[in-house]
Amino acid sequence: MKSNQGGFRWALAMATITAMPGVAMAQAAHPVVTAASPDGSITLTVTTDNDSRAIWSLSRRGKLLVAPSKLGFILTDAIAMERGFAITGSDTAKSDTTWEQPWGERRYVRDNHNDVTVHFHQAGEWGGHEMAVHFRLFDNGIGFRYEIPKQPAMTTMNIADEITEFSVVPHGTAWWMPGGEWNRYEQVYQKTAIEGVSTAHTPVTMRLDDGTHLAIHEAALVDYSGYWLKHVTGGLFRTTLAPSSSGPRVSRKLPFDTPWRTIRIADNAAGLVENDLELNLNEPNKEGDVSWFKPIKYVGIWWGMITGKWSWAEGPNHGATTQRTKDTIDFAAKHHFGGVLVEGWDKGWNGNWFGNGSQFSYTEAVPDFDLQAVAAYAKKRGVQLIGHNETGGNIANYEAQLDDAFKLYHALGMNSVKTGYVADAGGIVAPGDKPGEIRMEFHDGQRQVQHHMKVVETAAKYHIAIDSHEPVKDTGLRRTYPNWIDREGARGMEYNAWGAYANGPDHEPTMVYTRMLSGPMDFTPGVLSLEGHDHVPLASTLAKQLGLYLALYSPIQMAADFPEELAKYPKELDFIAQVPADWSESHLIAGEVGEYAIFARKDRASEDWYVGGVNDATARDLTLRFDFLAPGRTYTATIYKDGEGANYQTEARHRIAYATRVVKKGDTLSLWLASGGGAAIRLHPGK
Ligand code: NOJ
Ligand code: CA
Repeated sequence: MKSNQGGFRWALAMATITAMPGVAMAQAAHPVVTAASPDGSITLTVTTDNDSRAIWSLSRRGKLLVAPSKLGFILTDAIAMERGFAITGSDTAKSDTTWEQPWGERRYVRDNHNDVTVHFHQAGEWGGHEMAVHFRLFDNGIGFRYEIPKQPAMTTMNIADEITEFSVVPHGTAWWMPGGEWNRYEQVYQKTAIEGVSTAHTPVTMRLDDGTHLAIHEAALVDYSGYWLKHVTGGLFRTTLAPSSSGPRVSRKLPFDTPWRTIRIADNAAGLVENDLELNLNEPNKEGDVSWFKPIKYVGIWWGMITGKWSWAEGPNHGATTQRTKDTIDFAAKHHFGGVLVEGWDKGWNGNWFGNGSQFSYTEAVPDFDLQAVAAYAKKRGVQLIGHNETGGNIANYEAQLDDAFKLYHALGMNSVKTGYVADAGGIVAPGDKPGEIRMEFHDGQRQVQHHMKVVETAAKYHIAIDSHEPVKDTGLRRTYPNWIDREGARGMEYNAWGAYANGPDHEPTMVYTRMLSGPMDFTPGVLSLEGHDHVPLASTLAKQLGLYLALYSPIQMAADFPEELAKYPKELDFIAQVPADWSESHLIAGEVGEYAIFARKDRASEDWYVGGVNDATARDLTLRFDFLAPGRTYTATIYKDGEGANYQTEARHRIAYATRVVKKGDTLSLWLASGGGAAIRLHPGK
């Protein structure tokens, strides 16, 4: 429906062309399109300015949130799509549906939104450009994308950069990590004034001085470059796309749609977390029944390599031997872990894999690892073998082997693979135009985005789920491709293995409100010994290790420590064995950005609830309310909490206390969180 309704009107007031001596004062009209979210709280205005630039602005409850901000592109081979725009019309639509996730933090997701698509024509003697901007307004955020139709003057759009602006009006605080740096997304989070952000990866989280919470990100990043949010001045930000080795940062044949640019908007931290904006902006499941993948917890042959005790490469300290894998499978079976990850099983680790990766074989095992035998043993013991494909960033070498590798893993009874793209300078090695030529690409450039799609789509054919490390950021694609189960994409537990670079106590309570807004993370919690390489301690109490299973969602949750270390903590191991990795509901019941986060999550497979989470360096007392429990029912709460005097900075980090209580809906629980602490509670119906 193309119409002048739905808020499309001509506004003479918007056009003020200054009278100049000797020039007749002209008055041009600028059409204005307005739209509102379903409950009317968020309102959008789209128009053109006196430079004929396309601009958008946003208000919430009558207060300006985003001041007029520009839209457009710079092209490498044509006039920039920046000025000379006029609105030619608009379409509106609305929808209110609920859809089901095959696995995740919640089973049912409501998608209630209003749409408005604004059509622009850019005048020019070359024939002009056509561009539409499709806005989708929810009561807890907005998304908008460019829709570039087929048009006579352009068949391929070669984008030098996208110049979408977000001019955030109120002042406040931002949590963010630098974008475009050598260490990909594995950066330390920054907390600054909004004006203090430089160039950031998204999501960027903001708390405005009036308490409003925002998170700026993107959804459905397919065949395009990821954007970094570049600070311009004051509250003004502009998108800048990850560069490409081939000139234009993005090259697309017309017609095409860009990913959605998104802002979650909420009154508090919980409203930011319990928000499915990006998932709702993705297309529905294209893969159909993915019940062949079941969320699990897993152990692995990993901590030994990442702490430097064992090697990925062959040799006297080789980690992935047949016998060690069988022993780990036995441990998994005994303690009810669904999977065993094995790294360094394949050929290619002996050379310079770091940023090269040309030697990796994804089908051939090294001599002391009998792939057929361990796969058969895993099957016998009812444990899934989790594959590992480190690429060293050499995506050409990986792409050439994808079908053979996934076919083999499927035949061996495996259904998930962890991938890796370790390469310096933000780069990956992509195939060039000539044989043997290499090109460096960014982890979030268009070429790498295309690569991930190829991996995920090929894997789906063989019923393999993908957990990407050193990935491109998550933009909700798991809705469309539910075999893309997990990613790393931030500093994980591995930083604690390396001692000197260890994560600080506020890292995880910051990630809950930043990285985790984008989707599940394979953080790999469960280092119960609380130490990494050379006994360097973690910034964590023992209870916090359990709280991580509630704070950082992942459909495959690791217990990362050595099996013999895990076995020293039978009560904690029991909790990890029981805590689900698949939920029917998830609620943030207490928390502030960067400080602490306590979730209540309901098991998808039973009536059990789990409560828990993580704290930063400030010890605190909380009162938790069990409002979420079913009415008229009693539950036995098994509590794991920081013991008296626990503190992440001393040996007291191991102090843990256990308690049981009978609770019902509406009851409260006083809970003390230690400095660097956490808690975990299992609520089982009955006394
Ligand atoms: C970095 C990944 O994050 C880690 O989990 C993996 O073990 C190494 N790369 C080797 O692939
Ligand atoms: Ca990593």
